[in-house]
Amino acid sequence: MTAVEIEGTLLDPQVQACPFAYHAQLREKAPVYRMPETGFYVISSYDDLKTVLSDPATFSNDILVEQLAGEAAADLGRMFDEHLAEVGWGHVQTLQRTDPPEHGRYRRLINRTLTPPMVKSMLPSVNRIATELIDAFIDKGSCDFIADFAFPLPGLVIAEQIGLDASEINTFKRWSDGMLAPAMGLLVDEESARTYSEVEAEAQHYLAKLFEERRANPTDDILSALLAESADGDAALTMAELQNLMNQLITGGYTTTADAIGNAMLLLLEHPDQMELLRNDRSLLHNFADEALRHSSSVQGLFRRTTVDTELSGVKIPANSILHTRYGAANWDESMFPEPEKFDITRSNANKHLAFSRGPHFCVGQPLAIQEMIIAFDHLLDRLSDIQLAPGAAPERTGGLIFYSLKDLPITFTKA
Ligand code: HEM
Repeated sequence: MTAVEIEGTLLDPQVQACPFAYHAQLREKAPVYRMPETGFYVISSYDDLKTVLSDPATFSNDILVEQLAGEAAADLGRMFDEHLAEVGWGHVQTLQRTDPPEHGRYRRLINRTLTPPMVKSMLPSVNRIATELIDAFIDKGSCDFIADFAFPLPGLVIAEQIGLDASEINTFKRWSDGMLAPAMGLLVDEESARTYSEVEAEAQHYLAKLFEERRANPTDDILSALLAESADGDAALTMAELQNLMNQLITGGYTTTADAIGNAMLLLLEHPDQMELLRNDRSLLHNFADEALRHSSSVQGLFRRTTVDTELSGVKIPANSILHTRYGAANWDESMFPEPEKFDITRSNANKHLAFSRGPHFCVGQPLAIQEMIIAFDHLLDRLSDIQLAPGAAPERTGGLIFYSLKDLPITFTKA
């Protein structure tokens, strides 16, 4: 068999910043493609990705993401974990890093923290936070949409759940950065591994104190729900497990949603006709949120490990191989989404995207994330007119295999 010729590489920051042509090439020539540089199998077609995500027995989540970047990164990841165990609670594998049936125990607990009534009870805060953030920049006629709105909104929503207020958003961001550091390749030497693990430990000690307070006096927040449910049939969670679940709620719910809001704004700026349509018909807000997530998925890719020798679309994959599940590529699969490059907020099947994954690990925060996007853009379109990219601005992306993040997004507007 002749090897498939693929031009470029997903490791190139320019391809990461605009992966669409590269994805199209993969879907056309090699929907299951073994990246020579890493040995990962990149899954880019809609049907193959659905198959992978729905079969956890073959395609496992039991992986240490920080160990995928080579031996040096794995050593630093181990250092991070060892130091964290000394100064806080070492990482244990829960929820997203586990497979059924073990996954089910964590999932049952976490499902009950973001129930429809729970999400509904959070919406007044989302509305208030969106209003206050816009209040802070509306008189200036310009802002950096990422720093002034997209990041603080979901950050404050979760921060409030853990008892922090608006003035502590930088602390929250620092904690979240510390928690994400191993997966984001930010551990570059021993010192950075120690520093980031100490940042995570600082968050853990704060959370441990809160867990003890909630154990004594439960409220209606996420922490109390986790503690209350531990007593409900399943064995109680240890403090290390509680810490790991909070880590996943914080890291899972913050950057992802911030990127979704930032990417959605950029799409509206690039498609003024769609912005006008949405401005005039807010019943489209939900579909707009899904179409933005389909088009510019916040999480472009994650990972699975094969537990056995297997075959996918005619490609043999040995046991213990790493798959790169490319949600962003599957969401542009022409067989599912005709004219995938078109950003169309009336697309009839926009909500069939895989940006929140599929199968047992389907995003637990999806209802909250969609509501945050709807509320955010409802307020923005109510209060800002003539929203434009600031003159001369050329928004850049942060790069990486996982997230699709904007570094900044300078905009101008007038008061509506
Ligand atoms: C637009 C925003 C979001 C996107 C694009 C997103 C994306 C994802 C994806 C792709 C997964 C699946 C991982 C896998 O396949 O292994 C996932 C899982 C998860 N998400 Fe989200 N997410 C978002 C918002 C949120 C929010 C707001 C929260 C919580 C506050 C959250 C918490 C989680 C958790 C805890 C998991 C793990 C679920 C499990 O393994 O059972 N996410 N998310």
